[in-house]
Amino acid sequence: MVLNSSFRYVGGALQVDDFALEAIASEVGTPVYVYSLRRVLGNYRRLRRAFAPLSAQLHYSVKANGNAAIVEALAKQGSGFDCVSGGEIRQALAAGGAARQIVFAGVGKTRAEIEYAVERGVGWLNVENALELEYIQAAAERTGAESVLVALRLNPEVTAKTHPKIATGHGGAKFGMTAAVIHALLAKRNAYPRINFAGIHIHIGSQLGDSQATIRAVEKALELARPYPQIRAINLGGGLPVAYQFAESPPPVDELVQALSSRLGEYRVLLEPGRAIVADAGALLAEVLYVKRQAGQVFYIVDAGMTDLLRPALYDAHHEVLPLRKASSRGEVAQLVGPVCESTDVLARDRLLPPLQVGDKIALMTAGAYGMAMASNYNARPLPAEVLVDAAGAGWRASRSRNLLPEK
Ligand code: LLP
Repeated sequence: MVLNSSFRYVGGALQVDDFALEAIASEVGTPVYVYSLRRVLGNYRRLRRAFAPLSAQLHYSVKANGNAAIVEALAKQGSGFDCVSGGEIRQALAAGGAARQIVFAGVGKTRAEIEYAVERGVGWLNVENALELEYIQAAAERTGAESVLVALRLNPEVTAKTHPKIATGHGGAKFGMTAAVIHALLAKRNAYPRINFAGIHIHIGSQLGDSQATIRAVEKALELARPYPQIRAINLGGGLPVAYQFAESPPPVDELVQALSSRLGEYRVLLEPGRAIVADAGALLAEVLYVKRQAGQVFYIVDAGMTDLLRPALYDAHHEVLPLRKASSRGEVAQLVGPVCESTDVLARDRLLPPLQVGDKIALMTAGAYGMAMASNYNARPLPAEVLVDAAGAGWRASRSRNLLPEK
């Protein structure tokens, strides 16, 4: 069975590229994230090709997965980076990313972060607040930067078809500014002689299931930009969806590109994809600790929980669960739960799962985006380990050791 080009069963054993996940799990221990760099780079190249008609510049959204080896490999491909904190800018620069190819976004940038970004020559600042402009102008004067590129983030008041907790473009969201506020800022642009108001930024949400909403948002951005010849760039943000369920097929990117290319015309296009590059390149491996049959239910208690993969608890997100050794029988409807002291620590609810026994290992699929990135030490649990299979598929290494808290 082929799940994607990197994760598949071979002879009943689930593999990442040419390695049995069972062997990796036994050697490194669980919980462990396993990433295929080949798949990451394949996704990156596929997106570049798909967006070639728009000559779009890709800025990988570091928040999806800041693993140093992944960021470094993307930097080598010439990717830019979308960063939302001083920390992420540091991550991108440390991985060899070019400052000029970084876009710095965020609804609550601190003044110190803005100064750091300007000082380091970050390519674009996506601005969501008039006061940010004061800080950028001051930082530019202090550091001698003559022209800082700014994209004003429009809240296009478009409700995206996605989970409400990851929608950002509707009028009630804290993100972006209304068209009226942006017009007012542009009318005052001469007050900021060191700022080049060259772009409009939109990002209406993540895991966008409906390209119509994106197209509506782009139209609003174009309508806003049209009277200002100095606005040459439209940053479309991220949000490209991936399949979390095997039966799912997200809308093809090509259709979106086609619809956009007739509209975006002469504008320079920037993109900030995160999930679409890393999600299906990663899986979280866990081991069954206990099987509990209680109150008519079956609970498989595994050693990974919401501290390792928060998405199911936070968004009722679906991640497919696969045994590392293919099951021969069908199994039963069960609850896959973690060890954390919270009722919401459920990784798969009412799911038809393969028959599992204590010691069996499973993979939570499509966990490469917003998995490790949102892991925490809650319950004083160590962060999961990470393993990276190199791009040639020739070898793997644990890219971070588990930070077990030392005993005094
Ligand atoms: N650009 C901006 C301004 C963003 O806010 C985001 C994501 C991205 C780009 C990248 O979006 P992507 O291509 O990955 O959809 N933790 C949630 C997702 C939160 C997304 C936050 N912003 C999850 O696990 O689904």
